[in-house]
Amino acid sequence: MSQLPIYILNGPNLNLLGEREPEIYGRATLAEIEAECASKAKALGHSTDFRQTNIEGELISWIQEADKQAGGVILNAAAYTHTSVGLFDALSAVSVPVIEVHLSNPYKRETFRHNSFVSPAARGVICGFGAQSYLLALEAMAKLVGGEK
Ligand code: DQA
Repeated sequence: MSQLPIYILNGPNLNLLGEREPEIYGRATLAEIEAECASKAKALGHSTDFRQTNIEGELISWIQEADKQAGGVILNAAAYTHTSVGLFDALSAVSVPVIEVHLSNPYKRETFRHNSFVSPAARGVICGFGAQSYLLALEAMAKLVGGEK
C-alpha cells in the first residue's frame, strides 16, 4: 500500500461534465468519476486526491506539490493540454510519474487537439474510453507506484 495518494488532476471545463457536449464526453459527472476512481483505487490498495480547476497556474502549483506529496499524478489537463508550455515545464521539473488521460480521443478530433504539451513529459497516455480512461490509468499507476514495470 502506497503511503502517498495518487493525485487525479483535472483542468478547465471538466466541472461541466454531464451537461457539456455529452455526445463527446459522456453523461457521467465529474463527481461520479471521482467516486468511481476512489473505489477503484481502494480496490487497488491506494487512495486518491481528486481535484479540478479552471486556472492554469493552479494546475501547475498542484503538479509542483505532487512531486513531494503524491505517489503519482493522473492528469486530464483538458484544453491546457494543447496550449500550455507552463504545464510542460512543470511536468518536466518533477520526478513523480505522470499519466495523461482524456475522455475523448483528441486524435480523432480537430487538428488543434493533436498536439499535447503533456505527452512528452508523461509516462503514458490513455484516451478515448470516456470515464473508463481514468480507471485504466489508475490500474497502470498502481503498477507503477507498486514497483511493477
Ligand atoms: C479532453 C480533450 C481536450 O481536447 C478538451 O479540451 C477537453 C477535454 C478530454 O478529456 O477528452 O476539455 O481533455
